[in-house]
Amino acid sequence: MLDIAKVRADFPILAREVNGKPLVYLDNGASAQKPQVVIDSILQSYSHEYANVHRGLHYLSNLATEKYEAVRGIVARFLNAGSEEEIVFTTGATEGINLISYAWAAPRLQPGDEIVLSILEHHANIVPWHFLRERQGVVLKWVECDQNGDLDPQAVIDAIGPKTRLVAITQMSNVTGTVVDVAAICRAARARGVPVLVDGSQGAVHMPVDVQAIGCDFYAITGHKLYGPSGSGAIYIRSERMEEMRPFLGGGDMIREVTRDAVSYAAPPMRFEAGTPGIVQQIGMGVALNYLMGLGMAQVAARERALRDYANARLSGLNWLNIQGNSVEKGAIFSFTMQGPAHAHDISTVLDKKGIAVRAGTHCAMPLMQHLGVTATCRASLALYNTEAEIDKLVEALELCHDLFA
Ligand code: ALA
Repeated sequence: MLDIAKVRADFPILAREVNGKPLVYLDNGASAQKPQVVIDSILQSYSHEYANVHRGLHYLSNLATEKYEAVRGIVARFLNAGSEEEIVFTTGATEGINLISYAWAAPRLQPGDEIVLSILEHHANIVPWHFLRERQGVVLKWVECDQNGDLDPQAVIDAIGPKTRLVAITQMSNVTGTVVDVAAICRAARARGVPVLVDGSQGAVHMPVDVQAIGCDFYAITGHKLYGPSGSGAIYIRSERMEEMRPFLGGGDMIREVTRDAVSYAAPPMRFEAGTPGIVQQIGMGVALNYLMGLGMAQVAARERALRDYANARLSGLNWLNIQGNSVEKGAIFSFTMQGPAHAHDISTVLDKKGIAVRAGTHCAMPLMQHLGVTATCRASLALYNTEAEIDKLVEALELCHDLFA
């Protein structure tokens, strides 16, 4: 079992006050706080170990390269990829999914070809596919969730037809916390020869991930939600798919040779990493992933399940609170509206006065909001360092807000 007091002590920001109250940080779905080891790593890199990577023959460049490249192996271990060659560094899941859209999908998809998506998707796993719809007549085929926010994997499988070229699906909704059975979808899609991209932005934070067991072709993660620096991230690309991809951004580091008349490219994964990367950020992400693996992702998941159940029991007791999504498999993410005149922004403002940070708005998931019939929600998204006492504070502040607007 995780020692929560010890875990909390690892995150210095949790000791601060906001508006004269101890911080209660419940906006982890947007971005998670950083443990001291990650902060130390950033300081260490810039203070003692910084130079550009892959280019120099000098000591510092070699040291930075070694540390940076070691992260590929750490990500591969975290995701249980078959090889670190299947890991491409990105600035986050958004870049990872755009990479697949430009480098794998765009050259292959023809007008009328279909991409199957779920209504649970974040804009990062929608807009890159809209680009293909706008530019080359690709058809987006949407699969709905039910009123609880549950997404039936069979409905996704049934949506796969002879023109489907890709399934792009989240493992966990950032709005409702719905956990999708991506392994079942991948099994069926694979049997039909259709690759699957899994958006792991939320999923990888809250449960152990094994991309080989899932059987996906692409799995995108973002470092800043995984307790690492912003601007870090990676995407797992199954090696067969990697061979099918054309280069993405052009520039230094992704080439083998450039002449006036021709260019040849470095072998993957470097082929997809042009320019000076986020050296310090990626090294920091490696430290964050090692921190998580040190705690044990199964332990993290167990702790968050307990927290989810506690929050669910407390929030469900507020009969004027409408929780959006109550799926059978759900992460510790709660989006809600309040009966009465209080808008999500009002709720968030009242909570902020109590030192409680939540997100309010459409959560970069407008199609889902339309499906749920809401214009905005307030969202409390929990992390491994949150406590039952913080959930009590949230409930107290929501009661106050309800009274204020009654
Ligand atoms: N994707 C982030 C969220 O869910 C920003 O808030």
